[in-house]
Amino acid sequence: MKYDFVNPPSRKGSDCYKYDYVKGDLPMWVADMDFQTAPEIREALIKRVEHGIFGYSIVPEAWNAAYVSFYKDLFNWEINPKDLVFALGVVPILSSSVRALTKAGDNVVIMPPVYNIFYNSIINNKRNPLEVPLVEKEGRYYLDFGAIESAFSRPETSLCIFCNPGNPSARIWSKEEINVLASLARKHNVIVLSDEIHGPITRPGTPYVPFLNAKEDNKDVAFAAISPTKAFNLAGIHTAAMVCPNKEIREKVERQLNTDEVAEPNAFSCVAAISAFNEGREWLKQCNELLFSNRDYAFKFIKENLPSLRAYEGDATYLLWVDCSNVDKEEKRLLTYLEEKCGLVFNGGSHYGKGGEGHFRINLACPRAKLEEGLKRLKQGLEDYAL
Ligand SMILES: Cc1ncc(COP(=O)(O)O)c(C=O)c1O
Repeated sequence: MKYDFVNPPSRKGSDCYKYDYVKGDLPMWVADMDFQTAPEIREALIKRVEHGIFGYSIVPEAWNAAYVSFYKDLFNWEINPKDLVFALGVVPILSSSVRALTKAGDNVVIMPPVYNIFYNSIINNKRNPLEVPLVEKEGRYYLDFGAIESAFSRPETSLCIFCNPGNPSARIWSKEEINVLASLARKHNVIVLSDEIHGPITRPGTPYVPFLNAKEDNKDVAFAAISPTKAFNLAGIHTAAMVCPNKEIREKVERQLNTDEVAEPNAFSCVAAISAFNEGREWLKQCNELLFSNRDYAFKFIKENLPSLRAYEGDATYLLWVDCSNVDKEEKRLLTYLEEKCGLVFNGGSHYGKGGEGHFRINLACPRAKLEEGLKRLKQGLEDYAL
């Protein structure tokens, strides 16, 4: 079956954050896709709706089994089903973990530019985000291990939230990089929470490396948050899992997830996850083919037609990170202009922390025709902006 990534229904007027919250008519910002999820998942959800009774739900064993089989088959990662804990989202896992594993005033290390909500999860809980910026070399980001080690060695540092693969850097971290990070965490008694929500969205043939699978003993110092919501466009369903082989950490975070009332599924959370992981694989494969051909198209277009911009290469996520510092050092004026004059909506880089200013993020998860239109408008917009 060839799935339809060409003519999705319009999201406008569906109380859609991406389309109905902004003025621009060509939104390419918030991280969800313009495509319908896989028909197999829609059918499973329709069946659940037709049952018609929406009382409280439990997490069935089939939920654990679906995660175990998907990650084993796609990433050769053997998850022990007992290590999985349901949560309503990855962000709830981040925030509950911050509360469970650190105390007010502690440092939580992050490596910007990085998913902006990491900051919220830390600052809203009165912890301190200790930024160790990624280092850029020739359009690719790297971890700064020297600076990470000094951040880890500070007595008030207890947790590191790592984005694997990187949003917005689109970077797949190698086994070696992950293992150096884990060894520094072990040396300095820091726990690493690896946010792997973007894990299944990678260039065909280039799988990401799950943190806990990079080396057997990483599981002593790390745990992960995973979910089908990015890869299968299910963010509004609210479903995720913590994978935590370390019993002491797992129990603490699970307790906190319960206290925070984010540990119980809604009527659709498990149905969606189970059908995505079991029946959505072919859809995901075809979707990744489209997403990475969009990425290559946009990268080439920018390189050849927009000399004032510089796009970063990447093998993960449907998010393209673009340096616009030659046009606007802070990016805000340029993005306001592009929205008001061209209808284009991108995410401003300053939201992603140190090193993000003078950049923006383009969401590539749309039909090719929309991407082409967006890039055409961007070219025209930049020409007019320069006048
Ligand atoms: C790195 C990362 N983590 C978490 C999330 C959101 O997770 P959830 O919707 O499950 O809370 C996003 C959404 O863009 C993300 O990019």
